[in-house]
Amino acid sequence: PSTLRVALLGCGNVGSQVARILLTDADNLAARIGARLELTGIAVRSIDAPREAELPRELFTTDAESLVEAADIVIELMGGIEPARTLILRAIDHGATVVSGNKALLAQDGPTLYERADAAHVQLSYEAAVAGAIPILRPIRDSLSGDRITRVLGIVNGTTNYILDQMDTTGAQFADALADAQRLGYAEADPTADIEGHDAAAKAAILASLSFHTRFALENVHCQGITSVTAEDIASAKDAGYVIKLLAIAELLKDEAGDDGVSVRVHPTLLPREHPLAAVRGAFNAVFIEAENAGELMFYGQGAGGTPTASAVLGDVVSAARRMVLGGPGRTETTTGHVPALSIDTVNTSYYIGLDVA
Ligand code: HSE
Repeated sequence: PSTLRVALLGCGNVGSQVARILLTDADNLAARIGARLELTGIAVRSIDAPREAELPRELFTTDAESLVEAADIVIELMGGIEPARTLILRAIDHGATVVSGNKALLAQDGPTLYERADAAHVQLSYEAAVAGAIPILRPIRDSLSGDRITRVLGIVNGTTNYILDQMDTTGAQFADALADAQRLGYAEADPTADIEGHDAAAKAAILASLSFHTRFALENVHCQGITSVTAEDIASAKDAGYVIKLLAIAELLKDEAGDDGVSVRVHPTLLPREHPLAAVRGAFNAVFIEAENAGELMFYGQGAGGTPTASAVLGDVVSAARRMVLGGPGRTETTTGHVPALSIDTVNTSYYIGLDVA
């Protein structure tokens, strides 16, 4: 096909950036895919609500169903369980490829959705649901599929990492740090999901399921947030050489009877200051993986915010689109650009690389 029709459901922080990039970077994306992505519409609850990006008004519609039925690729960024779930199922039934960033829905109903997608031979990808911009699900599912993961430790909620980091480094009060995180666009609409650990728990369920090839649901995740962490706790941890981080943990352990199982949990954790995860500052996320053969791996990046998360969504869209255009796994090499290599004599370089933390 020379054109693939893309329907976008939801136009919040992430959705508006996805729409902007689809429109402004269309030529580049087309070159990488071998077909144009045509944004056919954006389904929203209210056409006149304020948006993060300026987008043509004629793209907006409140009729999500019609949009879905006429799409090759459906991007679901509405959040919440319904109507997202029904619309995704409808897209699958119509044979459309689905890209979603809906961690709550995937943690709750993932198994049903994956089964329906498998049965219909359509692709469902959701890289943006865990740790925003960080490519983490595909590496676990694909690159590490020949290894045995033994433990996953993740800082997967930017809001709480920002709050704990501000309390640790500037002595900020919890409420002030939370207000900053909201202002910066990291927090969920209802920040309870962040500070009580529910957002991290949804991501923990998704990470654990992929890492241990077993379906873990939200109810399998022990969850404790950061609301009871005090300035004193943080100061005493610091004195003892530790930092407090809210971690999503999934690890192979033995139960009391000596049987193998996976413990999936989210709670404030004392980490030695030398641990690579202790260096993850501000609203950044990171996932630290221990695997039998690979050993230790760490993935780091922006885990929240419209544009970084849009990067993960677009990655899923391009990869799905390539497959649709070329069949099979798509192209292995993409050398569509013409960027010259610069000689060291013609550019200003430096022996110093600074640190830039929000
Ligand atoms: N509220 C989430 C966070 C957004 O702070 O990480 C990304 O899922």
